[in-house]
Amino acid sequence: MSLQEDLNSLIARAMGGGGQEAIAKQHARGKKTARERIDLLVDPDSFQEIDLFVTHRANQFGLEKEHPFTDGVITGWGKVDGKTVYIYSQDFTIMGGSLGEAHGLKIAKLMDLAYQNGAPLIAINDSGGARIQEGVDALAAYGEIFYRNMRASGVIPQISLILGPCAGGAVYSPAITDFVFMTHENSYMFITGPEVIKSVTGEEVDFATLGGAKVHTSLSGVAHFSEPNEEQLMAKVRWLLSFIPPNNLTPPDFQETDDPPSRLLEDILEIIPSSPNKPYDIHHVIERLVDGGEFLEVQESFAQNLVVGFARIAGQVVGIVANQPAVLAGVLDIDSSDKGARFIRFCDSFHIPIVTLIDTPGFLPGVDQEHHGIIRHGAKLIFAYAEATVPKVSVILRKAYGGAYIVMSSKHLRGDINFAWPTAEIAVMGPEGAVRIIYRKEISASANPQQLEEELIMQYRAELATPLISASRGYLDAIISPQETRLKVAAALDMLKEKRAPTPVRKHSNLPL
Ligand code: HXC
Repeated sequence: MSLQEDLNSLIARAMGGGGQEAIAKQHARGKKTARERIDLLVDPDSFQEIDLFVTHRANQFGLEKEHPFTDGVITGWGKVDGKTVYIYSQDFTIMGGSLGEAHGLKIAKLMDLAYQNGAPLIAINDSGGARIQEGVDALAAYGEIFYRNMRASGVIPQISLILGPCAGGAVYSPAITDFVFMTHENSYMFITGPEVIKSVTGEEVDFATLGGAKVHTSLSGVAHFSEPNEEQLMAKVRWLLSFIPPNNLTPPDFQETDDPPSRLLEDILEIIPSSPNKPYDIHHVIERLVDGGEFLEVQESFAQNLVVGFARIAGQVVGIVANQPAVLAGVLDIDSSDKGARFIRFCDSFHIPIVTLIDTPGFLPGVDQEHHGIIRHGAKLIFAYAEATVPKVSVILRKAYGGAYIVMSSKHLRGDINFAWPTAEIAVMGPEGAVRIIYRKEISASANPQQLEEELIMQYRAELATPLISASRGYLDAIISPQETRLKVAAALDMLKEKRAPTPVRKHSNLPL
């Protein structure tokens, strides 16, 4: 029979993955197959597969008996909302989706295409890791992938979906990529599994407690999004893709909006408590500020004292970075510094202006924070803001104390347009602490120390912490009415549309890590 006659049956065999039994097992676990996942993600009939007939070349440890087509990974490109994306999807029904030489080189080839042609890479992970029978060839293939992840960083967006096990060194490809998605069940990431941990440290732990979605979205910060099932996860990936451009040479899409830029935030003052020490939820401010209230929060369960995510203002994509007074009063700590810095660097890589909403009492004091390196981690946030050359617009809503004033997109780190509400308090430290330091003697000598302290605090707030001082120095460009925040931010972003900011010639900076 000629290949022409046989082709359809070969294709049918290749499309059948690891066979009905393995597919049924995959479904019984509540998991989709590699191909079903691609279909869920891309526009109908848009997927173009390559390397369907690739097989491994291993001839030891039983692998010589079978050479399944695809070698356990589907690769190709498709469209999401009409825009090209490159996708690889590991097929757990073939040798547990394990990564051998041919499997790894298929992925590397796809990554080269994505890199060369400037479109996002979506990596769907569901794998037992390095194919044990292929030894160092499997490890070498991982190395090829890691290298390409690094090379593509800041050139094309890279998104990892963890829809099964992702163990051992395999976790490092997702870890290098820009965004990691997990499902609530069936999705695990760890360097060493429960068995190894038990034999080495004696600790007993199950897969989910060790490296499930909850752990990685709330505790470790490894993952950025988690969804209850694969359908919802793919919808979220599509939503994320709607905000980000295909590569670092193309700005994000402008989207017409019927939400007027001049819309006043009528009820904004009802959200912000009159007492500066009372919390409120910054999400309410973000929702009112952005087009149609549509905000895609990134890492919403991790370091919740800082809120980051994507939105549009007057049709233009922006990255929002906002202190969250409702969590730890909005302090900056180790995790929020890491979270903010990584997000800012993504935005800066891909032409996404950064809008910063500031209400923070400063960096979190404490032995634990100091010993775990708040100096090193806080430095990342300063570095990221200072390094970013995309338009940077900020609004100080209430507190901007100490180092946090400087860090959060201040003029001194080349914030382009810096606004403050009349309620802003800008100073070296909060009134209570400051008054106790500079008036310690007067307060202890007073007949009524409490009353004197309260008076001095009021005076400090009115005379030293007032935004008028910063405005008089030009550190603020304007003190704006809270209701006009959208209007003012939109006008600033519009003015900054063609911003050019050259960076010094150097190999690369040495970001504190
Ligand atoms: C070869 C593998 C494999 C692997 C699974 N399989 N992992 N084959 N190499 N790494 C095969 C199984 O033999 C089995 O084949 C099929 O895939 C399905 O696996 P099951 O064990 O039946 O599935 P399940 O019970 O769901 O368990 C899934 C699993 C388990 C938890 C992933 O298979 C497992 O622990 N695998 C090993 C994981 C691991 O330690 N990997 C190495 C990590 S280190 P049959 O023929 O029976 O269907 C690493 C280093 C990377 O990856 C370094 C990069 C720098």
